[in-house]
Amino acid sequence: MKYLQLAEDLKVSQLAFGCMRISEMEVDELAELIKVALDEGINFFDHADIYGGGKSEELFGEVLKKHPEYREKMIIQTKCAIRRGKVGYFDFSKEHIINSVNQSLKRLQTDHIEILLLHRPDTLMDPKEVADAFQELYDSGKVKYFGVSNMNSMQMELLQSEVKQKLLFNQLQFSPIHAGMVTNGLFVNMKEEQAIDHDGSILEYCRLKKVTIQPWSIMQASWEEGTYLDNPDYQEFNDCLQAYADAYKVSKTAIVIAWILRHPANMQPIFGTTKAKHIQEMCAGCDIELSREDWYEIYIKAIGRILP
Ligand SMILES: NC(=O)c1ccc[n+]([C@@H]2O[C@H](COP(=O)([O-])OP(=O)(O)OC[C@H]3O[C@@H](n4cnc5c(N)ncnc54)[C@H](OP(=O)(O)O)[C@@H]3O)[C@@H](O)[C@H]2O)c1
Repeated sequence: MKYLQLAEDLKVSQLAFGCMRISEMEVDELAELIKVALDEGINFFDHADIYGGGKSEELFGEVLKKHPEYREKMIIQTKCAIRRGKVGYFDFSKEHIINSVNQSLKRLQTDHIEILLLHRPDTLMDPKEVADAFQELYDSGKVKYFGVSNMNSMQMELLQSEVKQKLLFNQLQFSPIHAGMVTNGLFVNMKEEQAIDHDGSILEYCRLKKVTIQPWSIMQASWEEGTYLDNPDYQEFNDCLQAYADAYKVSKTAIVIAWILRHPANMQPIFGTTKAKHIQEMCAGCDIELSREDWYEIYIKAIGRILP
């Protein structure tokens, strides 16, 4: 496993364990899966208050209670600000951020988390209020580091204009299939629709500001379609991945990981598997270095892209 040194006491594994899909697991089954990840050198676990309606954090907390020795090996990140209910909405109010963290700490059975992310932008945000909330959480020792998710570059700038702590992460959907942030950078100033900048050049912004991008849903085609792996609608892409998998004697998922890590933005992909075998297969991707030509071939074959 490779690691990214993001702050003096923040050394994160290049691959992160996403906890969105764990809520239906048994405690012992999850404990075993976490052990596999820790044994592979994965020290980073991504949560959100809403995963499984709170059950994912709760179950994870049960594992930590049974295995307190795991906690010191872990960097725990959670997210807040998506409100579910009669009407779904986003909430960056100080009261909500602080309450949400307190609830997460209770469910996770820990007195602090290493990282808090704001899950989705709240257009009603007051950056000063967010700054107050972060400061209080930092001063109380409940949260050490902060970041965001699904934000564009100006939203990050706006928040950072008040927030004292550096925003270290932006969690964004990214995979060979969902690569808009790369595509618009390849079609600059052209009339084709690929030139449309949907995110304020977030890829370049994050590189410039040394913000670590955490790609999510790396094996998904979309929510509706599920995974693209072995999906007949993505036959050409699967054939392409298989050819590389055969050449490197690894799985197709390892090639996807290698593809994400080949980008010099130095991203930290978050995987969502609930299977030990899949974790081990993906970890093998950290040791593969694709050439520039390989990288572009996978990008092109993923959805039959063309280059300008
Ligand atoms: N910030 C956000 O808005 C946001 C949104 C969504 C997710 N996330 C984060 O990102 C994490 C990952 O998201 P995700 O679960 O959608 O990602 P994912 O890694 O793309 O997983 C999606 C599906 O792919 C399957 N899969 C993975 N490896 C496979 C393999 N080798 N063969 C066959 N199927 C395989 C998994 O099933 P198996 O269990 O069968 O392997 C899983 O159901 C989440 O847990 C969460 O932490 C963040």
